[in-house]
Amino acid sequence: MSEGSKRGGPLGFILVSTSELQSTIEALWEVRDTLGPQSAEAMAAVSEAIDLLDRGQVRVAEVNRDGFVVVNQWLKLAVLLLFKLTEMRTIEVGPFEYADKIPLKTDYMERGVRVVPGASARWGSYQAPGVVMMPSYVNIGAYVGENSMVDTWATVGSCAQIGANVHLSGGVGIGGVLEPPQAEPVIIEDDCLIGSRCIVAEGARVRRGSVLGAGAILTGSIPVIDAGTGRELSRGEVPANVVAVSATRTREFDGGSFGLPCVLVIKRIDAGQRHDKAALNEILRGHGAI
Ligand SMILES: CC(C)(COP(=O)(O)OP(=O)(O)OC[C@H]1O[C@@H](n2cnc3c(N)ncnc32)[C@H](O)[C@@H]1OP(=O)(O)O)[C@@H](O)C(=O)NCCC(=O)NCCS
Repeated sequence: MSEGSKRGGPLGFILVSTSELQSTIEALWEVRDTLGPQSAEAMAAVSEAIDLLDRGQVRVAEVNRDGFVVVNQWLKLAVLLLFKLTEMRTIEVGPFEYADKIPLKTDYMERGVRVVPGASARWGSYQAPGVVMMPSYVNIGAYVGENSMVDTWATVGSCAQIGANVHLSGGVGIGGVLEPPQAEPVIIEDDCLIGSRCIVAEGARVRRGSVLGAGAILTGSIPVIDAGTGRELSRGEVPANVVAVSATRTREFDGGSFGLPCVLVIKRIDAGQRHDKAALNEILRGHGAI
């Protein structure tokens, strides 16, 4: 875990190291019912935590060396506390007006992030250099890795973790999760293509180098089935280096047989290779189109 910085966030507060900060946030969580917009000290600590998220120096969740998702709960607590500690205010941008508690991100040029008009990201989300945001939305606590594309009308929910070189195609809905604090966020690992209009929610995970075909629904309870064997591989987790598409499985109910959605693994991709359709992001970059 990195050391906290001395620079204040957009709300102008300054604090110390992340381990101290973690203890402070956990202690504040215990007394959350006593806190409100007037609690300046609490706001200083929470602001510093959100600022670390904002700079990508800490993450709500990470995949560890053994491949397990580790959730840094205290950061989610910080996000939840932020809502308690801030008040609604009017935010005007040219002819547009919003009402919110949390500022939008700024300084995209400096950070090497391309933001097409209509896109917005909240303070406390992180976009690494090379990220392109078409008119889309990235919520607080979310992390988007290097050179990833958040395409038109894609939404990245709070705390979702998107790897590097990922293409979230048009209209993709990546679910957010704040409560309960220990709940795992959605994880999309490096080099994945998530096809148009997919829904990935409830701590679902797509492992490195995989393609999720357009229109798939992947939640924590959706079975992922291997088309080659018919075997259920998991609930809510697409393995690495595969092509998986939306399909249905037959399920018997008292009222009859019905088709319920599942995700079907139809192909394997050699590790390190990219599916030809997943290369779209690179092709567009090569043409300078993004
Ligand atoms: C999944 C996908 C990558 C195709 O992968 P592929 O390896 O080229 O697979 P194929 O086209 O050979 O299709 C294999 C089978 O899966 C089926 N299939 C393909 N895409 C599917 C999808 N999204 N949902 C359900 N079934 C699908 C095909 O009909 C085909 O069935 P068949 O073998 O009976 O003909 C592609 O269909 C897709 O969804 N791409 C995403 C497109 C997109 O969203 N682009 C971004 C624009 S912003």
